Amino acid sequence: EFYVHPKDVSFSSDGPLGTYDRAQLQRGLKVYQEVCAACHGMKFVAFRDLGALGYTEPEVAAIASQFQVPGVDPTTGEPVLRPAVATDYMVGPYPNDIAAAAANNNAIPPDLSLMTKARHDGSAYVYSLLSGYGPIPAELKAAYPDFETPQGLYFNQYFHNLNIAMAPPLTAAGQVTYSDGTDATISQMSKDVTAFMTWSAEPKLEQRRQTGFVFIGFLIFATILAYMSKKQVWAGAK
Ligand code: HEM
Repeated sequence: EFYVHPKDVSFSSDGPLGTYDRAQLQRGLKVYQEVCAACHGMKFVAFRDLGALGYTEPEVAAIASQFQVPGVDPTTGEPVLRPAVATDYMVGPYPNDIAAAAANNNAIPPDLSLMTKARHDGSAYVYSLLSGYGPIPAELKAAYPDFETPQGLYFNQYFHNLNIAMAPPLTAAGQVTYSDGTDATISQMSKDVTAFMTWSAEPKLEQRRQTGFVFIGFLIFATILAYMSKKQVWAGAK
């Protein structure tokens, strides 16, 4: 009863006619890059896919070069980190799950590519989780005096067991500087990065819906045709 359902939040991609807001996706990428990428990967997204956000090829290359990915030193053959190129995937910062867990109080930061699909009420949930840290409510303390948030965990009413191993990632307005002049409140940054994750989980959403409308149009046409043929075929029968 103290677990809270996601906030009522809307995105431009909602509903059958919804489309992505490219400017918002670009802001969300910036939040991901500057904040979330320190711990989380998006391994199903390649940098070249970011072209869909409205970037040109040189812009994509420039963004990619700001990320480090595992590579091999051409002279020694040793594994090294190298700047990413457009064809690389946006992998996480840790070489493996053991390293990831060791750096995060034994919890592994999950890959974020499909997170809005993996959780119930995905986009609203992610937005609520990011903007939903706060003190333990007095009613919860009153109802469950033994409830506590252990050292290294953080209270969040939107997380299934209320204590999450992720420290609040977005803690101050202006944490990210938006180049389009949008006011970077915690709520705005949470919403933008969630929009970006909604896109990463379904980059072909707009095309899928367009195909759907064409398909419905064809079904209506085929239904009318079938009705008219039926009339024609049975025209002479009593
Ligand atoms: C978990 C998003 C930044 C560490 C998660 C989850 C999401 C998420 C959606 C999954 C929650 C669930 O399982 O339902 C984000 C976003 C970030 C961000 C959008 C940037 C705005 C960070 C940073 C760190 C971090 C900077 C490390 C310092 C973790 C860890 C977990 C987690 C350790 C696992 C928590 C647990 O299972 O208790 N994050 N995160 N995250 N994140 Fe982040």
